[in-house]
Amino acid sequence: MINNNPIGLFDSGIGGTSIWNAIHQLLPNESSIYLADSKNAPYGLKSKAEIVALSRKNVEILLEQNCKLIVIACNTATTNAIKELRELYNVPFIGIEPAIKPAALHSKTQTIGILATKGTLNSDLFNKTLDKYQDIKIVEQVGHGLVQLIENGAINSAEMHILLHTYLQPMIEANIDYLVLGCSHYPYLIPQIKNILPPTIQIIDSGEAVARQTKHVLEHEVGFNASEEHFHTFYTNSDSKVLNDVLKQRYEVIELDF
Ligand code: DGL
Repeated sequence: MINNNPIGLFDSGIGGTSIWNAIHQLLPNESSIYLADSKNAPYGLKSKAEIVALSRKNVEILLEQNCKLIVIACNTATTNAIKELRELYNVPFIGIEPAIKPAALHSKTQTIGILATKGTLNSDLFNKTLDKYQDIKIVEQVGHGLVQLIENGAINSAEMHILLHTYLQPMIEANIDYLVLGCSHYPYLIPQIKNILPPTIQIIDSGEAVARQTKHVLEHEVGFNASEEHFHTFYTNSDSKVLNDVLKQRYEVIELDF
């Protein structure tokens, strides 16, 4: 099946580029358009209705640009809005959710930690997933302030280190052996997290699983890019510096008010 249109992705900011990286690695011939809605970050403190409205705005921009498939590169938007988006728009959606399943299946201590936004941890979708793992102890922690620091380019700041230490220490004490990163911004914190956690604790994020699912949907429902040409455009409605930095200045970043 052939379809030369781009894949669309959106997030409340730069975090979804961690998902974009995984998709680009698996599907290097696909074109893409990425929306960083940094102006409205963090989504994690907004109401469900606000998250649905912001997600609709993003989807409509991506559809105007003929995206063939939309990846909601944000756990908060997925867990609060994917059902509504699927009802409203006739395009395949791929969402990301905290990877509880592999952590729960492999945990030897029967105790796993999850770091995510308030919006994700409070969502019905996430709590339905949790219900399936009643025999596992799940230590939940809201990552208050982490997204804001990442959006401000303060990934390696002392403040970030203090927050991470505060959030992870109780998980270490609870004897977790898996830490699930339930927010697409958090993979950028893996080096700092590894400095805090003992090496026996595995860190899991959703990037590779989402990339595999994207490939599956292209193969069976949508079609792959067959043209020699491919492009990647990143739009941000905030200062482009931090987005350029995480992309290592390799791609076109356009500031646009959306
Ligand atoms: N990157 C986001 C997520 O995966 C959203 C963070 C936020 O805006 O609060 O949940």
